[in-house]
Amino acid sequence: MNICVIGTGYVGLVTGSCLADVGHRVICIDNDEGKIRTLNAGQMPIYEPYLEDLVRENRTDGNLSFSTDLARGAKDSEVVFICVGTPPLENGEADLSFVEKVTREVSTTADFPKLVVEKSTVPVQTGEHISRTLKIYSGGKKSRFDVASNPEFLREGSAVLDFFHPERIVIGVDNPRAEDVLREIYRPILEGRFRCPVHSPCSSATRPLFLVTDLKSAELIKHASNSYLAMKISFINAIAEVCERVGADVEKVAEGMGLDPRIGKEFLKAGLGFGGFCFPKDLQAFVRIAEKCGYDFALLREVEKINKARIETAVEKLKKNLWVLRDKTIAFLGLAFKPQTDDIRFAPAMELIRRLRLEGCHIRAFDPRAMKKASAEIPEIFCGRDAYEAAEGAEALVLATEWPEFLDLDWTRMRGVMARPFILDGRNFLPQPLVTSLGFEYVGMGR
Ligand code: UDX
Repeated sequence: MNICVIGTGYVGLVTGSCLADVGHRVICIDNDEGKIRTLNAGQMPIYEPYLEDLVRENRTDGNLSFSTDLARGAKDSEVVFICVGTPPLENGEADLSFVEKVTREVSTTADFPKLVVEKSTVPVQTGEHISRTLKIYSGGKKSRFDVASNPEFLREGSAVLDFFHPERIVIGVDNPRAEDVLREIYRPILEGRFRCPVHSPCSSATRPLFLVTDLKSAELIKHASNSYLAMKISFINAIAEVCERVGADVEKVAEGMGLDPRIGKEFLKAGLGFGGFCFPKDLQAFVRIAEKCGYDFALLREVEKINKARIETAVEKLKKNLWVLRDKTIAFLGLAFKPQTDDIRFAPAMELIRRLRLEGCHIRAFDPRAMKKASAEIPEIFCGRDAYEAAEGAEALVLATEWPEFLDLDWTRMRGVMARPFILDGRNFLPQPLVTSLGFEYVGMGR
């Protein structure tokens, strides 16, 4: 199928490259000329495992191309995926101006029937607005466009894997034509007929479920899922607070809870809280959506509050152990909001660094991927060539992102370079018995 993907951020770039890889002819559009130039020069604007290879191979095969020309891309395609950003406005609502703008541009390209698919995370009822906009700007010939919702559930750092091995593919449609087209697009995934770029040979035999709903339910599934996952994290972080007050270990509590299949062990990792460009903004947006339709979703406001308080809990732990924070040197292991990504948007590490700088601390850091982006945001961070250089002369080491390579560090060497061997393990990740046996003071989160 000829597919046009509008927006080459994390979602659009992964979606476009993966759709090309399963045999479609995909053109990815972005109005950021620099980004399109980068992609056409064979370079990547973001780091995402396996993505670079996918882009290179499919460009070479002629299945994938990049352009700033939306009108041409949309005109030649039977299906248009909208994957543009929906950043938060001041009041927490999603800014839909990019969605509206590209919808209007697509509306002028209707010389044969097209399916417009919303993939960006949008408030419920956005599909109706898209439909109406297409109708108005295409001169009233509504039948030329179908609109569907197809929320993405890709996690940064494992987005390619998630695309090829989703548990479910959700589509929201208001007519069978749209369902048929989307089923056709995803057929290779649904039938397991693809070359898995992550595992070769691919070990997963489970086929995803294809869930078809009405448009509004599909839109809600996305916000409801992300809010629920965020709630799980805040729940375990609240339990962590109780654990600390009574001397229990949140890791053990989470293990015991997770063994109940009704609860499940995923998303019960206590620590510095959730970050990234999805949970924080989607939560806020969902609270606003509920408010607008007359429901006070107080539960989700509390989820947000607990998450923000994690940063303060970390500051208090540092204060308690270092006594005075002014002029202390603090080293960070990890800046990205999670491992396997260079994304620092709403990263707990960055929030904590900002907070500590207000206290007068000097910050050194090492992250395998995110230092460039972090330095661009806070130039005062000294970035080391490795974890040891970052830790030189530090009075405390904060583990903020659980990059697997941090498990292989030489802790004797680390102890040698630090001014004071104190660790705040913001993800309960480091080998506590080992580091304490080497003379480190170790403080975790909720244990
Ligand atoms: C999330 C959803 O998982 C994905 O389905 C959706 O499409 C986009 O939003 P993402 O933001 O990439 O994905 O990362 P995720 O792995 O969900 O982690 C989000 C944050 O929660 C990270 O900061 C992570 O460190 C934190 N987290 C996650 C915890 O603190 N504890 C956990 O148990 C799990």
